[in-house]
Amino acid sequence: MKLLDAVAESVRMTPDRRRSFLDTTCAEETPMRRQVEELLARYERLKNTGQLDRLACIHEEERFLGVDFSEYYELGAEIGRGAAGIVYRARDLMLNREVVVKKLRKPRFSFPEEIERFLKEARTASALNHPNIVHVYAFGEHQGSPCLAMEFVDGQSLAERLRLVAPSPENVARTILKLARAVDYAHDIGVLHLDLKPNNVLLTKENEPKIGDFGVATWIGFRDSTASEGDIIGTPSYMAPEQAEGRTTDIDRATDVYGLGAILYETLTGRPPFRGESPQAILK
Ligand SMILES: Nc1ncnc2c1ncn2[C@@H]1O[C@H](COP(=O)(O)OP(=O)(O)O)[C@@H](O)[C@H]1O
Ligand SMILES: [Mg+2]
Repeated sequence: MKLLDAVAESVRMTPDRRRSFLDTTCAEETPMRRQVEELLARYERLKNTGQLDRLACIHEEERFLGVDFSEYYELGAEIGRGAAGIVYRARDLMLNREVVVKKLRKPRFSFPEEIERFLKEARTASALNHPNIVHVYAFGEHQGSPCLAMEFVDGQSLAERLRLVAPSPENVARTILKLARAVDYAHDIGVLHLDLKPNNVLLTKENEPKIGDFGVATWIGFRDSTASEGDIIGTPSYMAPEQAEGRTTDIDRATDVYGLGAILYETLTGRPPFRGESPQAILK
């Protein structure tokens, strides 16, 4: 029996049944048994402190993370990779269409905060329904790792495009106008993106810009219990002063407007407003 299967099975049982189940599936005093018990203890701790409730998709009685992606999506080639996740081309087997699946690198039990962040990414993005924002279709798990499925944008990122061609001012104006309207729409729904930059804007082959990567997005007025004043999240070259200085309570719509300005600057000049050897150097 595999480690995560053993944990997933036993977590639904009463402590007595759990012990006899574990005794028959993984012998005492083995590394696997120790790991299973450690994960179970972690799970109980989270449950007791109410932290599991915040991960609303985790049900004791059911599967841990909603739908099992391996039943719906066939993962293909890797197309992108960031700090937390890997992005794959994929096929929706039911609807028979191309999609993209972003998969957290870590298995579902390892870091509840990261899973929560990822779920927040999925929830903020999926609240939005706009032609210039990448649509999120589903959240679930694939082989033990949390995943989200989204619209496949057949093209390249604005950052990649800028490395190949310098767009005309008319083109820049058209693109920025669309992005600004999409951001305004997101704000009206109550979502702040907070990581607007050329890397996170995807362009279709028809040059239609689509805002993606809601990895640090949040709700207007939402005070994250895990983030505290002084925490810096985002990308230094494109961050508004309040974000760069970690003044989390000052972060608002204007923070995204700054990000739009930074994109405008880079599309016109070919470089971001601020550059430096290190994040600290840029912030200065
Ligand atoms: N919906 C999508 N369609 C096509 N390519 C995508 C899509 N989402 C992400 N990618 C590719 O994967 C890269 C990383 O995705 P992103 O969501 O920005 O992840 P990260 O949080 O790791 O920065 C993007 O720059 C893009 O090249
Ligand atoms: Mg990104």
